[in-house]
Amino acid sequence: MSEIKTVGVLGCGLMGAGIAQVAAMQGFTTIVREVEQAVLDRGLGRIRKFLDDGVAKGKVSEDVRTTTLANLSGTTTFDDLGGCDVVIEAIVENLDVKRAAYDALERVVGGHTIFLSNTSSLCITELAAATKRPDRFGGLHFFNPVPLMKLVEVIRGLATTDATYERVFAFAQALGKEPITAPDRPGFIVNRLLVPYLLDAIRAYEHGLGTVEDIDKGMKLGCGHPMGPFTLLDFVGLDTTYFIANIMFEEFREPAYAPPPLLKRMVLAGRLGRKSGEGFYKY
Ligand code: CAA
Ligand code: NAD
Repeated sequence: MSEIKTVGVLGCGLMGAGIAQVAAMQGFTTIVREVEQAVLDRGLGRIRKFLDDGVAKGKVSEDVRTTTLANLSGTTTFDDLGGCDVVIEAIVENLDVKRAAYDALERVVGGHTIFLSNTSSLCITELAAATKRPDRFGGLHFFNPVPLMKLVEVIRGLATTDATYERVFAFAQALGKEPITAPDRPGFIVNRLLVPYLLDAIRAYEHGLGTVEDIDKGMKLGCGHPMGPFTLLDFVGLDTTYFIANIMFEEFREPAYAPPPLLKRMVLAGRLGRKSGEGFYKY
């Protein structure tokens, strides 16, 4: 098995930018692909800002900032991902969009390339089945903000070979993360528990339990959570949460996963959280 040297990342949004940053920081040659230059520039700008802030806080050395940026490049073509040993997909939580991206990717990469999805809730076996390499496919689920959160979940699809799984687990460690193995079930381990909690907070708010601020304060100061549920929802993205809830509800058919009416309406109104400037809070 050849060594992993070059990492491709699909998507330079909230997660893709963080994943590309972490891969470049750990010494991998990293190429991140976006759909258009303006979105790519914004994502790369966020990486630069994180590194600059890190230097200012004394958490990142000048050397690490320089080598990270030297290891990292952006592209809007699939062709530039041709030499990647691994490609981590972090694009919108939609099966058809992900399938189309794998199809385009498969035309340019070599046979040895492993495909990994950062999906929060889609079925890894189903994503793998959309490719010609289900044996070299897996889930690698990061947490937001990627450079600060230590955990990744490693997920095997039904067809993922032992060799691929072991390689992906070792790769996650090489990224400086603490991997856990999670089953190919919607939400894996963490979102299986987190998503019903976040949806329940919205339902409780809709039913008049308290203000957004008080519910957040309650969970933060009463339970020691770093963020209350509404701050976290805005942080994750209400669109992404809505997609995840629909996918989990579709599979489990349990009310706990059903997206509350208010969530749907906020997404329809473009209140997506931090990324759009307004969600449960204004930014
Ligand atoms: N460079 C380097 N280090 C940095 C940094 C930077 N630019 N910015 C911050 N840091 C460091 C800080 O120095 C600090 O380090 P120490 O603990 O050693 O002091 C640490 O990172 C935390 O930073 P801050 O003190 O500035 O911020 P904070 O304490 O308010 O924490 C947070 C921020 C880590 C985001 C915290 O609020 C948190 O953990 N929130 C919850 C996040 C969460 O639950 N994420 C999961 C979302 S769900 C998901 O991702 C899955 C899905 O599929 C939807
Ligand atoms: P996002 O909306 O911030 O970013 C998605 C990006 O993908 C956009 O910038 C979009 O332009 C880009 N994109 C779409 N199609 C593309 C393609 N074919 N090639 C390259 N780029 C493309 O979303 P996000 O929050 O980063 O989520 C991405 C994935 O990560 C989803 O599967 C989501 O479920 C998962 N995830 C999200 C979180 C979170 O907290 N937001 C945490 C873990 C996992």
